[in-house]
Amino acid sequence: MRIWLDGGLRDLDSARVSVFDHGLTVGDGIFETVKALDGRTFALTRHLDRLTRSARGLGLPDPDHDEVREACAAVLEANPMPLGRLRITYTGGHGPLGSDRGEHGPTLVVAVGETARRPDSTSVITVPWTRNERGALTGLKTTSYAENVVALARAHQHGASEALFGNTVGQLCEGTGSNVFVVLDGEIHTPPVASGCLPGITRALVAEWTGAKETDLPLDVLQRADEVFLTSTLRDVQAVHRVDDREPAGAPGPVTAKAMRIFDERAGDDLDP
Ligand SMILES: Cc1ncc(COP(=O)(O)O)c(C=O)c1O
Repeated sequence: MRIWLDGGLRDLDSARVSVFDHGLTVGDGIFETVKALDGRTFALTRHLDRLTRSARGLGLPDPDHDEVREACAAVLEANPMPLGRLRITYTGGHGPLGSDRGEHGPTLVVAVGETARRPDSTSVITVPWTRNERGALTGLKTTSYAENVVALARAHQHGASEALFGNTVGQLCEGTGSNVFVVLDGEIHTPPVASGCLPGITRALVAEWTGAKETDLPLDVLQRADEVFLTSTLRDVQAVHRVDDREPAGAPGPVTAKAMRIFDERAGDDLDP
């Protein structure tokens, strides 16, 4: 495995980040997960734009898109695989042990791991913890992800692959690493970004390509929706066949199946939509 760190490719054994890196000590960092199909990235421009938005939200210097593109290309070339999870991590860099940031400048790491195509449908649980739709990090893709680690572990304990959060006012928000859509009377709805969810890239493409509406939805809409599906970089569009103890009829239902088809077609036509 070859990894990009500090301006060049390194072997896994020699790719070392300081133990004082602010990403490690306080979670002061951002990231992107990009799908790579046979060494080619999907929607990289959108991922880089979100990386910059996340950097600005944290007060980190703008990442150099040319360098990140070069790093992605180099890592993919050095590690050929059919389906890759390309991970861009950008942190506050070497810093003090407290929350103040150091002066050394950011750390950029690009790595890739092989992954398998997800099943067409999955089961999810809801969790009692909330997303904060008014937090300083809301809508940013930061490395402060431990709440997601806890919630995803709960999902796995229940035989599910994702945990869905409501926000502080009881509205449906998102999953630990995915956005959520519901079908009501034949129409597709997804929570607005103001619910506190990450503005997912797959979410935006699906909304654009299917005409899904952004709607404030109560968390318990999951108990009556005709269909439920998830979107994310590595799930694409994935039907949900169980939410807690409820099984929406026949997943993927017809509306979800159509959204899956449209996504596959459009994504196949253009690798950087
Ligand atoms: C919290 C969260 N919500 C939603 C998503 C889905 O976003 P995307 O479609 O850009 O992968 C992710 C991405 O992994 C995420 O971490």
